[in-house]
Amino acid sequence: MEEIIVTGGVRLEGSVKISGAKNAALPILAATILTSEESRIRNVPKLEDVGTVYRLLKGLGIRIEENGNGEITIDPSGLNNSEAPYDLVKTMRASCLVLGPLLARLGKARVSLPGGCAIGARPIDLHLKGLKSLGAEIKLEEGYINARARRLKGASICLDIPTVTGTENIMMAAVLADGETIIENAACEPEVVSLSEVLHSMGASISGAGTRLIKIRGVTELKGMNYSIIPDRIETGTFMLAAAITRGDIKIEDCIPEHIDHITARLRDAGVSIEEGEDWVRVKGSPGIRAVDIRTSPYPGFPTDMQAQMMVLMSLSDGLSVIMETIFENRFMHVAELKRMGANITVDGHSAVVRGVPSLSGAQVMATDLRASASLVLAGLAAKGDTTISRIYHIDRGYECIEKKLTRLGAKIRRIKGGELLRGS
Ligand code: EPU
Repeated sequence: MEEIIVTGGVRLEGSVKISGAKNAALPILAATILTSEESRIRNVPKLEDVGTVYRLLKGLGIRIEENGNGEITIDPSGLNNSEAPYDLVKTMRASCLVLGPLLARLGKARVSLPGGCAIGARPIDLHLKGLKSLGAEIKLEEGYINARARRLKGASICLDIPTVTGTENIMMAAVLADGETIIENAACEPEVVSLSEVLHSMGASISGAGTRLIKIRGVTELKGMNYSIIPDRIETGTFMLAAAITRGDIKIEDCIPEHIDHITARLRDAGVSIEEGEDWVRVKGSPGIRAVDIRTSPYPGFPTDMQAQMMVLMSLSDGLSVIMETIFENRFMHVAELKRMGANITVDGHSAVVRGVPSLSGAQVMATDLRASASLVLAGLAAKGDTTISRIYHIDRGYECIEKKLTRLGAKIRRIKGGELLRGS
């Protein structure tokens, strides 16, 4: 199994380009099911999760060609299967994003029901409730969701929680439904807006994405898309934290500063200096980090996907910070690992009390999920000595070329397998 070794204490400097957003790419790839025409997608990040969707789509009979430089061509004309098998759904829950499109295009879908995951139970009951409102007949049999509908019918759907992939699944089902669908309490994340833009470009009639009320008027067919995936706001935030935590100076290019407003605001509160341009941010760390409180919440609030990384910065602050996780019930798995590196953190239910310490020290730690693994890399960059992070496959799900990008900024980071050096500096 691969491990990453980080030798801390280097101030990171230079510039880095942000890749396409994982959480925008996944639903957009699923949306190619909605048409029989070819689609061209650019700026697709090379990630494990993207590879999982490719396997899933290929299993449905869809042809995918990688043209290089992050561009792909997808030909869904051979779509002949409606099953998302357990083996794929268990490695990536977002596989359930094919449910809505399959139901809309083929009138049937058989998708393995995702189980719990490291960060929480993460049910998909709201996806299913929404699809049932659109007229789908849904049965849970032998661990699979069996969904059927002759033609979906528009409906008014009010989500109890503004679920991101739930909103996306319902949007993709509703674009080919008969009549109007209204989604109330919809998720407002930039990835939802990006999916709406894609659907619109395919001929869908859809408005309100980015607000809590989305309106969709169903059409009978959609055409192929030609789209470039938006930059990853969580990768952007992670590199901002890398600059802040190493007291470095990094210009982060090809990003959308507006998508990270809340991260920028909290970092400024912590004393970090940030300059912004149209598609870049420059982050300069300062010697004294002020403690700030963080509460995760749906967009435009502070993203849960940045909570672990922010906790590392707060571990090195000048005081006491309370970090409240309101989205997932078990997203503090990184705390025990950060404590092994000398952090002073106490968890009480949904809150973590972080008392800043003067420094962290390198240790052997284990990644438990994607964002937790990013937080351990950040902690390693700031720590004295070597940090060895195991189960690093988590990071490859969501960060493209992380070691390469960090190495270019001066970090001492390398990947090993059973003692053998794989890549990095
Ligand atoms: N929830 C339900 N029932 C549902 C759906 C959600 O109870 O039917 C609950 C969840 O258990 C959770 C909350 O609602 O407590 C919000 O979950 P949401 O459905 O919004 O999350 P998601 O769509 O499964 C996406 C991202 C996550 C990100 C969350 C929150 C993708 C592929 N995944 O997940 O990304 O943390 O939104 O912003 O878009 C990551 O990239 O590391 C990641 C976990």
